[in-house]
Amino acid sequence: MIPAAISDYRELARRRLPRLLFDYIDGGSYAEATLRRNVEDFEDLALRQRVLRDVSRISLTTELFGQPLSMPVLLAPVGMAGMYARRGEVQAAKAAKAAGVPFCLSTVGVCDLDEVAAGAGVAPWFQLYMIRDRGYMAELLARAKGLGCPVLVFTVDLPVPGARYRDMRTGLFGGAPSLTGGLKRAWDGITHPNWLLDVQMGGKPHVFGNLAAAIPEAKGMAEFWPWVTKNFDPSLTWKDLDWIRTHWDGPIVIKGILDPEDAREAVRVGADGIIVSNHGGRQLDGVLSGVRALPPIADAVGDDLTILMDGGVRSGLDVVKALALGAKACLVGRPWAWALGARGEAGVAHVLQILRQEMTMAMALTGCTDVRQADQSLLVR
Ligand SMILES: Cc1cc2nc3c(=O)[nH]c(=O)nc-3n(C[C@H](O)[C@H](O)[C@H](O)COP(=O)(O)O)c2cc1C
Repeated sequence: MIPAAISDYRELARRRLPRLLFDYIDGGSYAEATLRRNVEDFEDLALRQRVLRDVSRISLTTELFGQPLSMPVLLAPVGMAGMYARRGEVQAAKAAKAAGVPFCLSTVGVCDLDEVAAGAGVAPWFQLYMIRDRGYMAELLARAKGLGCPVLVFTVDLPVPGARYRDMRTGLFGGAPSLTGGLKRAWDGITHPNWLLDVQMGGKPHVFGNLAAAIPEAKGMAEFWPWVTKNFDPSLTWKDLDWIRTHWDGPIVIKGILDPEDAREAVRVGADGIIVSNHGGRQLDGVLSGVRALPPIADAVGDDLTILMDGGVRSGLDVVKALALGAKACLVGRPWAWALGARGEAGVAHVLQILRQEMTMAMALTGCTDVRQADQSLLVR
């Protein structure tokens, strides 16, 4: 298949990756209602077609926290990307750099901060999950700061991991180790030989980069999730932002806000930005989609901090819709994870190119020539 749209990369990833990995990327929590809503609520919004407005020049450039972006898109933090393609985080960060957009490295990436910064030639944004060991956290933040990571993204919607049934069924998460389970997983790998050669054999070491020293016992994903459940800190409150501030003097963006009250709290604790997000429908099922949560949050705090959003962005048209509703930029998660799994760096580069082209066309056909001027008037009310 010649991929033309982001959904094509989902299909290509499904073919290339072992089922266990594809389901980890693709799946959501519980019955996956929020995962579906993230996409469907974008589809339900209608753009206004406008004509004869001189759209010969379209500007997609914007700026976040002093950093120029060639378009209002970022690669969202995605865990374990080094299992989707060989040294996957480095490949994706390179594609992002070439496209002029930020790459945000997950705390639970396979490649660590140093490898990504050196490999891509630019320090990534860094996403933080807070683990109980504050000494380790302080060292990690110092490393991110030392490397020049421009923005800290503090993810707050995972005090406990959501119940992801697909991962339980494939044996990735939960379930006692068993001989049949092990054989099934081995078969899953053997029947995906391109992945096996590229990643399983050629992409080592498969460690949890930034956390490798904290989890010496975790040799694979099966040991990792029980470790997460034990070590991610569910006692966090808004007060912990003070602790982060003492270790991080750059911009802080809080990821995982869905409620206007929490958005106001984020302003109160001095966050520089928020990401309106339900973690791609992977945490609490039944909550609002990102795009439906966005307008009331933009009304509440739009003048006080920078609002980004994610969840269900599958085309450049979706980005334009999110901008119209008050986001300054969108993050994409699965789109780049599928593309990386399907075609590595070239796939991620292509997905970014698709988003750029689709956005340019959507801007032209809605008669809006500058993304910084996108507002509600682009949508049919
Ligand atoms: C496979 C996968 C792993 C993820 N890992 C992380 C992570 O480590 N940290 C984090 O803050 N969010 C993580 N997320 C959530 C994404 O950052 C983002 O919020 C979500 O993917 C956006 O929805 P989308 O996939 O529909 O674009 C992950 C998402 C996926 C799909």
